Amino acid sequence: MDNWQIPEEDTFSTEERRRYWEKLHSSDNYRDVWSLTDAPEVRNTVCQDLAKVQPCRQVLIPGCGSKTLLQNQIAESFPELHSIVCTDYEGVVATAASQPNHKKIVYKAKDSASVDWQQHFDSVIIVNSVISESDRENRAILRACRQALRPGGCLIGFFPTSLCTLDLGYLEQGPERKRILERVNPERSTVYETNQGITQIFYTPLRLRYLLKNSGFSLDRMQVFFCDSDYFVDATYCHYKMGDRDKVIYELFVVASAE
Ligand SMILES: C[S@@+](CC[C@H](N)C(=O)[O-])C[C@H]1O[C@@H](n2cnc3c(N)ncnc32)[C@H](O)[C@@H]1O
Repeated sequence: MDNWQIPEEDTFSTEERRRYWEKLHSSDNYRDVWSLTDAPEVRNTVCQDLAKVQPCRQVLIPGCGSKTLLQNQIAESFPELHSIVCTDYEGVVATAASQPNHKKIVYKAKDSASVDWQQHFDSVIIVNSVISESDRENRAILRACRQALRPGGCLIGFFPTSLCTLDLGYLEQGPERKRILERVNPERSTVYETNQGITQIFYTPLRLRYLLKNSGFSLDRMQVFFCDSDYFVDATYCHYKMGDRDKVIYELFVVASAE
């Protein structure tokens, strides 16, 4: 165990985790869950960096979820692509596959920690899918993504960060400040997601940088991505009742190369 490892505490079993996500995605309300891929600027940001990956014929989206806008936009924007493989738990990919999808999109039921391709993909795209409450699992996912990439292949990803919740919390006063801050455990980089009823690891920039390096990536870029467009301000209000245009959610946007 290295010094950076977050000790395991109250983690789901593999089966519990699968059941949790399958139930969440099949619930009537999932359509309304705040998802980054619903935002055009998120999809455009991914596509801008994907356009720099040469050659780019094979793309993997692990933990793709049940929404399909991202993979369809990629398929339509990059005619030279051969296929986009989207993986998630069986019950989740079944929902995604049942919707209209470009013919180059392939869905496969796979645990992200054990995707077993070797040096097959030119790019791996992660959108909020390395957020397990188990640091060990997140590390296994990143290692599997690294193995799936050809040398020089590119990881493009959005990662939530607990610093955002701390930042938003300290901008409030009184009970609201307390309500936000008590959801964060800074030592473990975890945040309790009230809407979903679970605790997840949202890495800080230093932790994420280290984890990527430790998984065999060389970090090209890590930047703050502010969810501050009209789309996001409306969506954030709907889901979290936060309507201040300056107190917006942000994530870490990462581009990294497989060494
Ligand atoms: C927060 S959702 C994000 C979904 C999608 N990427 C999006 O942005 O809409 C996290 C996704 O990762 C999937 N996931 C988490 N851990 C997984 C694992 N070990 N194996 C497969 N899928 C996993 C969940 O099922 C879920 O669909």
